[in-house]
Amino acid sequence: MTLDEIILNRRSIRKFKDSPVSRELLQQCAQAARLAPSACNSQPCKYVVIDDKKLKEDFCNTVFTGVYATCRDMALKAPAIVAVCAKAGGSITTRMGQMVSGTKYYLVDQGIAAEHFVLKAQDLGLGSCWVGWFNPKKAKNFLKLPFDVKCEILLLIGHPDEAPAPRPRKPLEDILSYNKY
Ligand SMILES: Cc1cc2nc3c(=O)[nH]c(=O)nc-3n(C[C@H](O)[C@H](O)[C@H](O)COP(=O)(O)O)c2cc1C
Repeated sequence: MTLDEIILNRRSIRKFKDSPVSRELLQQCAQAARLAPSACNSQPCKYVVIDDKKLKEDFCNTVFTGVYATCRDMALKAPAIVAVCAKAGGSITTRMGQMVSGTKYYLVDQGIAAEHFVLKAQDLGLGSCWVGWFNPKKAKNFLKLPFDVKCEILLLIGHPDEAPAPRPRKPLEDILSYNKY
């Protein structure tokens, strides 16, 4: 698939077939994420794949509770949930940079890397959905993350069982300008 085809055809997939996702394919996705750029090359992310059925159930019942319950069912049915974990603040250099500029570089890095993961999944014929609506504190406890590591994004991965139409996007002229905002 060309890059244009991957970008054009990717959709958020919220219905998956029961068939498991092979770890070989997930490894290829992680390899694509590994090659993502990051501020000062700090590479703050780690990916915890939850593909054990019982563990996935426990995880979903923990992080999708209360106001976060809306995404629980679709997450439960995804064959694999990738917990995108990032060292909050990144490296010492990026932490210092963040103190000066106020920019949370580790979040930028996380976004780029997770999208590499998702685009590679698309390239391999897998479906994916970013999920940000869950309890990050409970996810951190569940995954026993170190004190300076956060899990603020999940990726649902599986074989698609739906083909959603493209969601609307702003026209190009609304988002692109030259020499002024
Ligand atoms: C940071 C982020 C968080 C998201 N969180 C959720 C979520 O919690 N639940 C959900 O169903 N979709 C979530 N999405 C998917 C978006 O709703 C989706 O990308 C958007 O509607 C555009 O649709 P498309 O991905 O099919 O092009 C999230 C996407 C991003 C990038």
